[in-house]
Amino acid sequence: MGIPEFKVEVATIRCEPSGREVRVVHETNLMDAILQIGLALGQSCDGIALCGFCRVRILEGLENLTPAGAEEQKVLAAEHTDSDERLACCARIHGPVTITTDYW
Ligand code: FES
Repeated sequence: MGIPEFKVEVATIRCEPSGREVRVVHETNLMDAILQIGLALGQSCDGIALCGFCRVRILEGLENLTPAGAEEQKVLAAEHTDSDERLACCARIHGPVTITTDYW
């Protein structure tokens, strides 16, 4: 009996305009990826989809994020966000994504 093989899928997250990148395991949320890069990200609810301060604009790879759940959709609607914006604490990564915010 051999050692079981585990396939770990990773994706690159790129932040503009700095161009800073990080490679993260699939299912990581955008907030954790951004913190690994070392960029500041607004938040006041500890990542539980309440404050809306962690919203980021997806420049590329929107399809590589998990769809917004009910809680995230409620915050996005209340904040009158654009269709290319997501809450970093909610969106989980499944492929390469490029993001930005107004304050980077
Ligand atoms: S950190 Fe508050 S909604 Fe994401």
